[in-house]
Amino acid sequence: MPARPRGRIGRPPPVEEPPVERIYAGRILRRGRITPAEIGVDGDGIIRRVAKDLKGAPRQDFGEGILLPSGVDLHVHFRDPSPPGAVEDLSTGTVQAALGGIAAVVDMPNTDPPITTLARLEEKIARIPARAFVDVLPYAAVTTRERIPLLAPRAAGFKLYLSPTTGDIPPPAGEEVPGLLTEIAGTGLPLHVHAEDPSSFAQGKAPREPREWDLARPPESEESALRGILKGPDHLRLHVAHVTTTKAAQMVREWGGSFEATPHHLLLSTSRIRNAMGKVNPPLRTEERRRELWEEFRAGKIPVLASDHAPHPLGEKETRFDLAPAGVPGVETMLPLLLERVRAGEIELGTLWRAASRRPGLFLGLPWGRIAPGYEANLLVVDFRQRRRISARSLHAPCGWTPYEGWEGIFPVEHHLRGERIVEDGEFVGRRRGRVRRPFEPESPRRPPAAAQGPRDR
Ligand code: DOR
Ligand code: ZN
Repeated sequence: MPARPRGRIGRPPPVEEPPVERIYAGRILRRGRITPAEIGVDGDGIIRRVAKDLKGAPRQDFGEGILLPSGVDLHVHFRDPSPPGAVEDLSTGTVQAALGGIAAVVDMPNTDPPITTLARLEEKIARIPARAFVDVLPYAAVTTRERIPLLAPRAAGFKLYLSPTTGDIPPPAGEEVPGLLTEIAGTGLPLHVHAEDPSSFAQGKAPREPREWDLARPPESEESALRGILKGPDHLRLHVAHVTTTKAAQMVREWGGSFEATPHHLLLSTSRIRNAMGKVNPPLRTEERRRELWEEFRAGKIPVLASDHAPHPLGEKETRFDLAPAGVPGVETMLPLLLERVRAGEIELGTLWRAASRRPGLFLGLPWGRIAPGYEANLLVVDFRQRRRISARSLHAPCGWTPYEGWEGIFPVEHHLRGERIVEDGEFVGRRRGRVRRPFEPESPRRPPAAAQGPRDR
């Protein structure tokens, strides 16, 4: 008779854990408190253990430093490809992301030429490993219904512009939109929408400053565009870009979609900036509206913070307001500006972390945004005593300007991508290890797969 196996019958054999190859020691945010912890990371840069005290591998001790999961930016324009002379590409953009504490970006398709065909998408995908210092999710533009199934096998998601934008992507006619939404919902991929309805734009004389831009493209144009989109099928994996009013936020929230606010709509307003540096689509709103949006953000009612980093050459922003292009750079300053609001006691660190890291990770269904076993070791070291004055000269944006000149920021002291240092002492030290990423196929459309979900949203 064969010997009875040891242990209880039916117990699965112990799973071999990959060995911890390095240990990070510092303080982490846990259940709303900053507590000492040690993080064990394996050779692939995946977190394997989190405990008070780990042994058996080389340690990096960050002492009083706070270890936070890196940011995930659901909205950047890195302008790759673009003709010679452009002020950004995947290399310059991902360096700024790394320095700003962002380990992964959703890169938008309104490039020159735009990402509207499979051939262009594949070219773009081929450029990423050769250029990117952080991970990139390449999105395709929505043009016609027929192209959606062709793009879906390679795209990380889709972007739908309901109004004309930078680049050559004509918005679809209103009657085409329902069919497009149905087709995209069927792919299971995320759809990010730029919701402005041009039929609600005011006609009249050329706007001369952000206040007039706000009147020309009023909040009603966002609400009107949203009314069309929110008729889309229930299983659409929807994310609404740059919501500027609490009304728009409420509409998407009630429908059950994801949405973002940008640092510029949260921190700048038509009375805080008066020249074309403050020209952006959708426009900056009044100080009162900005304050309302900020209140919702700090109350945790806005799920996602995203930069809408849109670098335009300084020369073009210094021309007449009505001729200047719309967009502001922001991927390097987003987290530092908001961490400074945390330091000032205006918003909780946990609220910022959920919006900048946890929820974008959940939306994409990727193992990002938590310090827990199975998650990628994309980690920041933050020291709230180290404030830095922001200036275009000290930033790394080739466009050469920032709307936050003179503001204070808390920049990550260190940034590690999958366990490898890419920022040290606030200086960039990374290699081109950025990967092409795609979101997980959702089990149920509006929920990420269980594997990527923590026990709770913490
Ligand atoms: O202001 C904007 N600039 N809004 C957009 O939607 C596009 C962006 C750009 O690409 O320049
Ligand atoms: Zn954008």
